[in-house]
Amino acid sequence: MEFTKRLKSAFPWKMFWLLLLLLLTCNLSERITDAQDADIVSSCSRYKKSVFDKQDGYSFLFPSAPITYKTLDTCHSYTPLIVDGTPADPKEFPHMARLGNRNDNNVTNWFCGGTLISNRLVLTAAHCLYSESGEINVVRLGELDFDSDQDDAEPEDFGVRNTTEHPDFKYPVLYNDIALVELDRGVRFSVYKHPACLPFNDGERYSSFVAAGWGQTSFAGAHSSKLRKVKLNGFRSNCLQSDDVEELPSGYNATTQMCVGSAQNKDTCNGDSGGPLLTYHEEYPCMYHVMGITSLGIGCGTPNVPSLYTRVHSYLNWLKQEMAKIS
Ligand SMILES: *[C@@H]1O[C@H](CO)[C@@H](O)[C@H](O)[C@H]1NC(C)=O
Ligand SMILES: *[C@@H]1O[C@H](CO)[C@@H](O)[C@H](O)[C@H]1NC(C)=O
Ligand SMILES: *[C@@H]1O[C@H](CO)[C@@H](O)[C@H](O)[C@H]1NC(C)=O
Repeated sequence: MEFTKRLKSAFPWKMFWLLLLLLLTCNLSERITDAQDADIVSSCSRYKKSVFDKQDGYSFLFPSAPITYKTLDTCHSYTPLIVDGTPADPKEFPHMARLGNRNDNNVTNWFCGGTLISNRLVLTAAHCLYSESGEINVVRLGELDFDSDQDDAEPEDFGVRNTTEHPDFKYPVLYNDIALVELDRGVRFSVYKHPACLPFNDGERYSSFVAAGWGQTSFAGAHSSKLRKVKLNGFRSNCLQSDDVEELPSGYNATTQMCVGSAQNKDTCNGDSGGPLLTYHEEYPCMYHVMGITSLGIGCGTPNVPSLYTRVHSYLNWLKQEMAKIS
């Protein structure tokens, strides 16, 4: 009796409460760093529902039976890509935009990629606004193969009402390489033209990403007429040294940039400048997050030489502020 009593009082309550406190605070701080932006989460769900939730009405076969509606979720995934650069499937990347300059003779030079993020705004790299090919005055959405009219696509060209680069972008230095292109009219969403979601986190937790674009298929090679995709790996901090690239005088900035590439010799470059670096939405297999913007390719297809992407998550406040100006 005496023995058990002593054992009981010897229970290290202090230690127990301390551990409990520690556990709770750890959990809490994890949730704080994980905090998702409520507006971004809800607009992402809204975009998904606007195209992929179909209301299906049916009625029992007796007179005056009420019509019952059921929501049909048509959001499904495309074959996960394990492979090297391959052509994209129809409707696989409905947020893909291609940006170009159309001259007086109606000849278009396409030179950058972009990502539709709302019904009027396309996200791209700020350096795309400084192209030798001229200003961006045309945006194509819903395209798959530029050389084909028979592909399963619904291409549509939009004019440009306005472009806005990040206020801290100082061309030709490539920090804060992020810009928005405002279209001249709203996009009617469909399975061919549909926004990608903004990031719910900074992307450090992912070991792999998907890049898509019509960019070169080899270093200094020709552009591809077909939209292509490639799986790439995050290099985390193993990025270039500070004096490696003159466009980045203070080297790689891990807060505002992502370093992503491939350990193999992929047969695809990383898509056009301005195009997206993507991850899959965790709940909606048909949706993506645009985690990065293609900013600086160092050696296309050279193994273990990553490229730099603007880390979209660190610009959410700026993006929300600019998005609020357009209604
Ligand atoms: C210019 O080219 C676009 C696409 O190639 C075409 O849809 C459009 O009709 C052309 N416009 C004129 C004025 O020729
Ligand atoms: C273009 O965007 C900038 C930045 O958001 C804004 O200050 C300017 O008023 C816009 N111009 C037009 C014509 O909408
Ligand atoms: C990275 O960029 C952020 C935001 O511009 C800046 O505050 C920070 O000092 C930069 N870090 C380095 C190491 O240059």
